[in-house]
Amino acid sequence: MEYSTENMENKDIASLLQWYLDSGVDETTDDETLDWFALSPRPASKNASSSNSPTSNFPTANLAAAKAAAAISVEQIAKKAEQLASGCNNLSELNEVIKSFEDCRLKKTATHTVFADGNPDSNIMIIGEAPGVDEDRQGIPFVGENGMLLDKMFKAIGLNREQHIYITNILPWRPPGNRIPTDEETSICLPFIKRHIELFNPKLIILLGGISAKSLLKTDMGITRLRGKWKEYDLKESQVPVMPLFHPQYLLKQPKAKKDTWADLLDIKARIEELSL
Ligand code: URA
Repeated sequence: MEYSTENMENKDIASLLQWYLDSGVDETTDDETLDWFALSPRPASKNASSSNSPTSNFPTANLAAAKAAAAISVEQIAKKAEQLASGCNNLSELNEVIKSFEDCRLKKTATHTVFADGNPDSNIMIIGEAPGVDEDRQGIPFVGENGMLLDKMFKAIGLNREQHIYITNILPWRPPGNRIPTDEETSICLPFIKRHIELFNPKLIILLGGISAKSLLKTDMGITRLRGKWKEYDLKESQVPVMPLFHPQYLLKQPKAKKDTWADLLDIKARIEELSL
């Protein structure tokens, strides 16, 4: 496939290179077969170090340097996301900004930007990890089998998505093949979910699974240790109670863990009553 980098910005090229690396492509081939044994080191070409043609010497490119370049641009992209997000004054503005954000590679492979579902005027915010295949197809979070279990879990304590809860994810785009999102992808999307929380202004937050708990609670602890224990999220001048739960996906694979989750849900119900939510 021919890929022209002529009209691309450096950060896009770095991101493309990173995408190749992540996909396991650390070597390129040409249309014509090369006799690798006859190859002598290339003479330094005039353009070899030109920042306008970083792919001109790609077969021998220094992959570590490409990674470093990509890492710098991740910070810049996250900064851009933060600036865009902070300019949003309500949830629909944020939705539009995320939909038109082109600097996260997950966007390129996703069918839909998955923003949120449920009641935006409720007080309880549920934050999952990333859309799966069904969510990507429909553009709505938690509509597949995970979503069916999620609805059942909350129905069991008297909550439904039409009235009582608002559901979103750390990442608005599906990672291809449902792979675990990279730290870079999470860092780029984090400013969006943080602004999402500010604009929704929840009185109680429920985090589903290890990725959402780690991303928002700034901890390396696993979900097995975090679940069932109340934490706090700093929001403006207040602290919002946060309960990390096992992800429905995990519960589908490990039904034995449903017992612990039921205890956590009862704890959430008691807190909701205590706070008169
Ligand atoms: N898993 C998630 O974390 N979020 C979804 O929206 C669907 C599956």
